[in-house]
Amino acid sequence: MSDLPPSKDKFGSRLGFILAAAGSAVGLGNIWRFPYMTAENGGAAFVLLYLGCVLLIGIPVLLAELSIGRASGKNAVGAFEALDPDRSKRWRWVGGLGVLTGMAILSFYSVVAGWTLSYTARALTGTFAHSMTHAESGALFESIIGSPVESVAMAGAFLLLTALVVRGGVSGGIERASKVLMPAFFVVLIVLAARALTLPGAGEGVRFLLEPDFSKLTGTSVMSAMGQALFSLSLGMGGMITYGAYLQKHERLGVAGASVALFDTGVALTAGLMVFPTLFALGVDPGTGGPGVVFVAMPTIFDALPAGQAFGVAFFALLVVAAWTSTIALLEVVVAYLMGERGWTREKAVWGTTAVCFVWAVPSALSQGAVDALGKEALGRDFLDLMSIVFGTVALTLGALLIAVFVGWRWGTRKALEEMNGLPFGAVWALTIRVVCPLATAGVLIYIVVVAATSGALPW
Ligand code: PHE
Repeated sequence: MSDLPPSKDKFGSRLGFILAAAGSAVGLGNIWRFPYMTAENGGAAFVLLYLGCVLLIGIPVLLAELSIGRASGKNAVGAFEALDPDRSKRWRWVGGLGVLTGMAILSFYSVVAGWTLSYTARALTGTFAHSMTHAESGALFESIIGSPVESVAMAGAFLLLTALVVRGGVSGGIERASKVLMPAFFVVLIVLAARALTLPGAGEGVRFLLEPDFSKLTGTSVMSAMGQALFSLSLGMGGMITYGAYLQKHERLGVAGASVALFDTGVALTAGLMVFPTLFALGVDPGTGGPGVVFVAMPTIFDALPAGQAFGVAFFALLVVAAWTSTIALLEVVVAYLMGERGWTREKAVWGTTAVCFVWAVPSALSQGAVDALGKEALGRDFLDLMSIVFGTVALTLGALLIAVFVGWRWGTRKALEEMNGLPFGAVWALTIRVVCPLATAGVLIYIVVVAATSGALPW
């Protein structure tokens, strides 16, 4: 059984690949998760930590994953066996952990993505045509996410949209969609950030993002920053291994990797420049925003724009798109595994995975006010938040550690560098992947264990 994708199932062009990989990376992680993590961790100091993690961990691991993927031409599980010097099956479970993590992320992610559908529908029907106060916007958010029927239905609808693209395969579905949608998204984001930055009082928001107060940082901030860097770049769960396998042989991975990282980080920072100035202009303390911060903040400024309602529609519709190109990548990781290692057809893999993720999404959807037993009071963190931390932060950190160790100490950095077709500062990359990444990721995991053991509570 060959688990190479059929030869036509590759990205058609470098631009197509970069946009698809950037599409995977750019998503709710940048627009929804980054602002709320930054707010939770006190602003600029967290942003600096995050940028440090992108440079020191994110980019090296991104290059490692792309090399694993393209060198093996396989899915996230088969790749580890194909590249193991003894063809040992022992590393396959690193990919297995990735597949499980991908399904878990897809489950809670589709709930938040469902909110973007709800907001788009409301924008279309004119809900944001008149100015909205922060309190009104907050009440609207609570009512949307707390509605059991709407939140479950929208999560299901989003999974359906995802399944429909992934059914179409790589170049026909994924690449074609990303090429149009990603550039449009970036343009709208920049316009909204420009509007936010010219609001009276916006300067405070910029200062919040640029003037670090390191006393606000804790060990948990380091954990969150690293997790967020990995989450945002779609790393630690085999996503970039899977996409790397569809990349043509002559492409230089350094160029592709750097473009994706630059784009992703640029979008996250732009999202910050959109959300925080808006909050400060409203006189709202960003720390009180919680996970809804972007959904609550943005509707308050559409009215102040020319063609505000159209902007509202564009913003939420493009957020749908950004989320969609990410859920496509998440689903493709699982589908590629089921096809490559289990011999499933694409069709069966797509619908089977979608069904499981839908069931898994239900408790997250109901944890936002509909069912108290899944909420914050009962669990310390609501179920959605818990999934986001356990899989979106901790499991990705573990995955990144194992991937770095595999490339650095098992497959070998020399072979990886050959696959990259010439990487400037290759020796620095090799040292980072062998030493810096394993130590930093292991450090975070040890911190979690030590806190848990000494205080009897997890650090979140
Ligand atoms: N990177 C995506 C985002 O920021 C989320 C994601 C994680 C996608 C892992 C694929 C794999 O929204």
